[in-house]
Amino acid sequence: MSSPADAHGVHGVHGVHGVHADGAASLAVEDLVAGYGGVRALDSVTITAGAGTITAVLGANGAGKTTLLRAISGTVRPRSGRVLLNGADRAGRSPEDMARAGVAHVPEGQGVIAELTVEENLRLGVMAWPGMAWRRADRAAALAEAYERFGVLADRRRRLAATLSGGERQMLVIARALVARPRVLLLDEPSLGLAPRVMSQVMDMVVRLSRESGITIVLVEQNARAALAIADRGVVLNLGRVVAADDARTLAADVALRHHYLGF
Ligand SMILES: Nc1ncnc2c1ncn2[C@@H]1O[C@H](COP(=O)(O)OP(=O)(O)OP(=O)(O)O)[C@@H](O)[C@H]1O
Ligand SMILES: [Mg+2]
Repeated sequence: MSSPADAHGVHGVHGVHGVHADGAASLAVEDLVAGYGGVRALDSVTITAGAGTITAVLGANGAGKTTLLRAISGTVRPRSGRVLLNGADRAGRSPEDMARAGVAHVPEGQGVIAELTVEENLRLGVMAWPGMAWRRADRAAALAEAYERFGVLADRRRRLAATLSGGERQMLVIARALVARPRVLLLDEPSLGLAPRVMSQVMDMVVRLSRESGITIVLVEQNARAALAIADRGVVLNLGRVVAADDARTLAADVALRHHYLGF
């Protein structure tokens, strides 16, 4: 269902059955403290993300949003606090351990390898996951699933990633993360730099991922309005602390909060 007429769009997202192997996972962070050298980027942060839900993480530049995702995925080692996956504390584990536990982290910045084809980029996703001694048939199935879900990538599988539009690149990095069948997906500003129409296509894709596959999604966004429109819950950070955490609709209706922290 990809749409060649819309070369810069990101159409062609299909429903796929059973992305993750082990069922849905809840994620919670409790009293998390993390930082860099003398910088305390997260100060006693507590959030909960129910299995299969979308949680928007909002806040100004430097609020600690990226650090929160890094601390969950193990790329930054928390100083204290807990990172609970289905209730089991995994704080301080390596990124490889967290990946094995089903946590996929898509960092900011559409990090595809421009000199490789779409398919080669996807294969990197298959290979990148530690401890996954997949059979060839499993790897082929993972790629087929990615193409089923992202028809636009199937159409462009032999093209260099350099030729993709910004929205297509964002689809590719998300597709690459999904081939490992994560239970928790951490997305850092997936709409950054995208035109509004393409941004809303990325948001639609995130909703479908959540609804159809039951993946637990933590969505960091500068565009608070767009993120709250699709999220179940929202968390607002400011200077490393949680200043609000509630139902997404409640947050979006809070005029003072919007004015002070959300910019809309
Ligand atoms: N690698 C680093 N070394 C030192 N300090 C850092 C580093 N990365 C982030 N910081 C600091 O940690 C704090 C939180 O940064 P973080 O990147 O988590 O914020 P953010 O909410 O993601 O911001 P942005 O909206 O700009 O992406 C900031 O004070 C930032 O300057
Ligand atoms: Mg950031």
